Amino acid sequence: MSNDSGLNRRNFLKGAGMTALATTAPITVIADDDEGKPLFRSGNYDFETVYNREGHNCARWDGPAKKYPGGEFKYGMGVATMDFECAPCITEALAERCKHRTWGYMSSTDSLKEAIAEFNAERHNLELDPSVIQISSGVYPGMIASLRTFSRPGTKVALLSPNYSGFYYMTKHTYTIADDSQMYLQDGRYEIDWDDLEMRLANPETQSMIVCNPQNPTGNVWTEEELLKIGELCLKNNVVVLSDEIHSDFVRPGHEFIPFARLPDKAVVANSLSFNSGSKTFNMAGMKNAYWHSTDPKLLERVKHNHFSTVSTLGCVASEAAYRDGSEWLDQLLAYLDDNHKFVENYVAKNMPSVGYTRPEGTYLNWLDFSKTMDAINAEDMAAKKEVTPEVYMQDWLVMNSGVYLNPGSNYGMGGPGNMRFNVGSSRKVVKAALDALAGAVRNA
Ligand SMILES: Cc1ncc(COP(=O)(O)O)c(C=O)c1O
Repeated sequence: MSNDSGLNRRNFLKGAGMTALATTAPITVIADDDEGKPLFRSGNYDFETVYNREGHNCARWDGPAKKYPGGEFKYGMGVATMDFECAPCITEALAERCKHRTWGYMSSTDSLKEAIAEFNAERHNLELDPSVIQISSGVYPGMIASLRTFSRPGTKVALLSPNYSGFYYMTKHTYTIADDSQMYLQDGRYEIDWDDLEMRLANPETQSMIVCNPQNPTGNVWTEEELLKIGELCLKNNVVVLSDEIHSDFVRPGHEFIPFARLPDKAVVANSLSFNSGSKTFNMAGMKNAYWHSTDPKLLERVKHNHFSTVSTLGCVASEAAYRDGSEWLDQLLAYLDDNHKFVENYVAKNMPSVGYTRPEGTYLNWLDFSKTMDAINAEDMAAKKEVTPEVYMQDWLVMNSGVYLNPGSNYGMGGPGNMRFNVGSSRKVVKAALDALAGAVRNA
């Protein structure tokens, strides 16, 4: 059942200050009870039709809606999940497993580990021995176990910032101290300040470095040369590399994801652990399934000792189905997302020239510089009165003036202020409607 009432969940075309939207054609919404048929049309997966996520305890849409009970919130472009229906192979495998109506402990995850190894060999040219793969309920538990293993409380963890807000929760959780090496923007790309990074790694109080590849939120897909240089510096300074590769499958044409474990220097690789998951790739973060690995048996054993993470049957079933049968869906998704990125780039240049745009090499995230708008609305002074960061004030201002909910740049460490993170993992209709609303607000600021 589809309807043409617009994004009915948010009274899509209503709302004060949304004049730009008033001319937008209503958006067709496929209800989630669409007779269970996957969105597959003429041999292609359908990423265009809006799939209704409202009312399913969804962090991206229901989360902000709760925060704004007055109905000001309209577009959830913050939390990093996508709005697309998952690859049908995942839902089919789950439905099949549900036919067997018992839910006791699982006996083995061997078959999942083999599927992970095959997927990595095929897509990333990475030879992974299934016996070194550790299944986990998320990237967090593996990374937290690693920080507990290598970084004493009170010591520093090197990071390249701006980077994923969750790393700061991980350091807080392990009583370690995040030590940002701030990147700088050059010719539209965030670059590593090598002198600064080297200085931080040489500090004897630094025992781990988190590498995020591709980098959330700046979209860097690190080159082999860059990763090797990081790896060599870490090895030289006895710093263990924790490589978070959760966005590894979102790489745009012209770039290649290099798994840290595939680097040509064996000693560098043996000084690292890598963390990955199908949660971003196949849009199934709620399934709570991830994995980590290392080629060094000693590192592996030490972290295993601190890693207590049980996994659920459904998470394993979903992940295995995705790795075995989801590649065609993923290829089509990547093409769609690349077009979304191009659309946003052109739109911002044309309609929001005061907003800075960084062209992402990977991820489905955009990093937008709103500092001019923030100056125009006096965000700094207003934020001080509310005792929040200017970016948190900006987040609220944008909801009140455009209905669009973005993630505040101040969550992403040094170099984050002035920026907001915009998630393009949606039907282009939703992306465009959100941009129209943002452009209206920026113009009127
Ligand atoms: C870089 C990065 N690492 C880890 C996570 C969270 O991983 P998980 O939900 O598997 O713990 C995210 C989620 O946005 C992420 O962007």
